[in-house]
Amino acid sequence: MMRAITSVEINPLFADRRSPRSFEEAHSLAPEDLLAILEAARWAPSANNMQPWRYLVGRRGDEVFNGLLQTLVPFNQAWAFRASALILVTANNLRPDGKPYAGFEYDCGLSVAQLTLEAHSRGFVTHQMGGFDKTKAVETFELGEELIPLVVAAIGKQGSLDQLDDEMSVRESAPRVRKELSDIVLRGLPN
Ligand SMILES: Cc1cc2nc3c(=O)[nH]c(=O)nc-3n(C[C@H](O)[C@H](O)[C@H](O)COP(=O)(O)O)c2cc1C
Repeated sequence: MMRAITSVEINPLFADRRSPRSFEEAHSLAPEDLLAILEAARWAPSANNMQPWRYLVGRRGDEVFNGLLQTLVPFNQAWAFRASALILVTANNLRPDGKPYAGFEYDCGLSVAQLTLEAHSRGFVTHQMGGFDKTKAVETFELGEELIPLVVAAIGKQGSLDQLDDEMSVRESAPRVRKELSDIVLRGLPN
């Protein structure tokens, strides 16, 4: 594990989490781990407690997993097939009164962040993917108009680098980088 070089010490969960592409193909997620990961996603905050997130969960080999794999762009397909689970994150973009709710993406991002960190705290890795065919996902899973596909998250055990091609292997071993705090905190950065 390669811990991020942070400007001050933070919870190792954030410093250690990364989005790898190497997954152990033989690993399967225990139902209780998957349940806890989804439970963490459930408890995210959202505007008016609207909880717009809706999850479709596939485990390697099942119909949902295979259906999701088919929606991924080739670059993602090339590594994500080894994940233990693929989860499609969708959002219900309607308020209870039937009017459109513009904040659904923000809320879903919070929920997925919790899912991700629960998974990492249990020793798994996650990798989110925007690179998938959303129209195909809507068709495959008959999502209807009120469910908007947002992202596919791969979850599993980190595997060996050997399984990746050279380019992916180099990216995987590179240190994680971020903008400086002074670039993202526009006013009020403590010194
Ligand atoms: C919404 C979203 C979409 C992403 N889409 C892809 C993707 O399609 N393929 C991929 O390999 N990585 C994808 N990533 C992973 C990012 O590239 C990665 O999170 C970023 O480079 C930071 O690396 P880290 O998560 O290891 O810190 C995505 C991440 C997010 C949050």
